Amino acid sequence: MMISSAEYQQRRQKFMNAIGKGVAIFRSAPQAVMHNDVEYVYRQDSDFYYLTGFNESEAVAVFAPNHKEHQFILFVEPKDLAKEIWTGYRVGVEGAKEAYNADIVYPINELDQKLPEYLVTGDRIYYHLGRDAHFNEKIIYNWQRLVASYPKRGSGPVALEDSNFVLHPLRLVKSEAEIVMLKKAAEISVKAHQRAREFAQPGRYEYEIQAEIEHTFRLLGGDGMAYPSIVASGENACILHYIENNRKMEAGDLLLIDAGCCYGYYNGDITRTFPVDGEFTSQQKDIYQLVLSAQLQAIDQVKPGNTYNQYHDKAVEVLVEGLKELKLLNGDSKEIIDGKKYEPFYMHRTGHWLGLDVHDAGNYKQDSEKWTTFQAGHVVTVEPGIYISPYIKPVEGQPEIPDYWKGIGVRIEDDVLVTESGNEVLTIAVEK
Ligand code: GLY
Ligand code: MN
Ligand code: MN
Repeated sequence: MMISSAEYQQRRQKFMNAIGKGVAIFRSAPQAVMHNDVEYVYRQDSDFYYLTGFNESEAVAVFAPNHKEHQFILFVEPKDLAKEIWTGYRVGVEGAKEAYNADIVYPINELDQKLPEYLVTGDRIYYHLGRDAHFNEKIIYNWQRLVASYPKRGSGPVALEDSNFVLHPLRLVKSEAEIVMLKKAAEISVKAHQRAREFAQPGRYEYEIQAEIEHTFRLLGGDGMAYPSIVASGENACILHYIENNRKMEAGDLLLIDAGCCYGYYNGDITRTFPVDGEFTSQQKDIYQLVLSAQLQAIDQVKPGNTYNQYHDKAVEVLVEGLKELKLLNGDSKEIIDGKKYEPFYMHRTGHWLGLDVHDAGNYKQDSEKWTTFQAGHVVTVEPGIYISPYIKPVEGQPEIPDYWKGIGVRIEDDVLVTESGNEVLTIAVEK
């Protein structure tokens, strides 16, 4: 179950149609080092992967729709059997041409020599200035040389543009094959959450639950976690990115688990919150029911024609009304919302695009006023929460928080696909 080479070809074709007479360059992600000579498992840059499916470092992809012979050019590390014995298989120059359908493949050490021949065919260069300052300089240097020689030629790239603005709108709408991948990532994530719920009980440590979750990810064929798993019991649930996962859980605790599996580069992202001993206290139940109600009503807003902000606004509206009923907020709802007086309880947005990146590529707004309109193939998370930290400071004029509310943190998160007729919750099978 993977993306077919025909689909990669279609993606490249669409992208090249979009850049018209331009030329685009993508750099592979660097190989991250864990310590000394030990490396992390390699993970390709998502833009690079989306267009090529190629998952080795030290590679460059060039798209030159105007070049007479080569429109898709790859630069890769050549095969080196002595090194491969240590670091694993490399596809190499010959292999890459075959396996990735490039029009031509060069060894990466020929990049400086060959790049100008392709860049000169574009009326502009599409390139995202990345973290590799040295590589950025290389692109700018090449561009400036072509600008300097432009008068003699009367052609060449006159501008450098960020490729994000062309590629990310394509990544935003998921194909059928991508949806299959996302469903698989969701399915494994669901099973891991189900396992976690069975396994959690007072006296166990958070990391034991984490181990069950991540064990399930691998056991079921996932690549591993999509992001560091958050297993947060008691007041740890009020820390949004708590990843220490080292506390011993006690009866009376809520346990917030935010964990998702990566499958073939596509990600799941699920949060559930439940009482470790199976019994809510009355305050926990009030907060839980409120977040659940906000989440279900927010999910209803995820449908074609609605805009990205609508489900967030719905969640905030429901949470604010509920917090007023619980006397944790007071005053006019519109003033609370416009003045963001709910933020001590709810400080993040209600979700994000999901795909090759957990916080996936794509604009949330089309200009400063206009939010992106949902269409079939968009995938978002819906993840409202309420966090009553022991250190919470209400906004001026708002009630002090009685101690019996403090330390409660609840978030509920599902992955939601926009369909032609509404939506499909990909992660619905985890109890909530
Ligand atoms: N787990 C990261 C997020 O929910 O956005
Ligand atoms: Mn999450
Ligand atoms: Mn999320």
